[in-house]
Amino acid sequence: MLSKTIEDAINAQINAELWSAYLYLSMATNFEAQGRSGIANWFKIQFKEEQAHAEIFMNYVNARGGRVILKPIDAVETEWATPLDAFKATLAHEQKVTALINNLYALAESERDYATRDRLNWFISEQVEEEESAQELIDKFSLIGDNGMGLYMLDQELAARVFNTPSPLATAE
Ligand code: FEO
Repeated sequence: MLSKTIEDAINAQINAELWSAYLYLSMATNFEAQGRSGIANWFKIQFKEEQAHAEIFMNYVNARGGRVILKPIDAVETEWATPLDAFKATLAHEQKVTALINNLYALAESERDYATRDRLNWFISEQVEEEESAQELIDKFSLIGDNGMGLYMLDQELAARVFNTPSPLATAE
């Protein structure tokens, strides 16, 4: 059984993951409108990953006999002028999410809820990947600058990104 404190904190994190999903969907539509379909694809996959993160937490709350409460999702920005702007915003956002996960981990420890702490280990590793991939794309777009051929090639590369079901959901099926 989850304590009310942990249940509330995970419900807040579910809302944060769904807000992240909404943010990346907004980025996807922004780049779709600019005719950059590869970048739009990358953000659409990111949108699906964030939905999956929310689902992992939802499954966990249910497994522990808690109650998932879905709260309203705040509005997100709608315009990013360049891919570099969007990937910088992505990195800044993921750093905030990392801090949220770390806070949740510290709360689970202080509440002596070791099952929740264990569940969070997957998210801690995931955040390393999230920050790394955003930084990698910032580096690539910075390097390319306004080079048309470079931008075309990178758009093609991002068009190839596919969604892989995260392991906590794959094993739950
Ligand atoms: Fe769910 Fe991008 O962290």
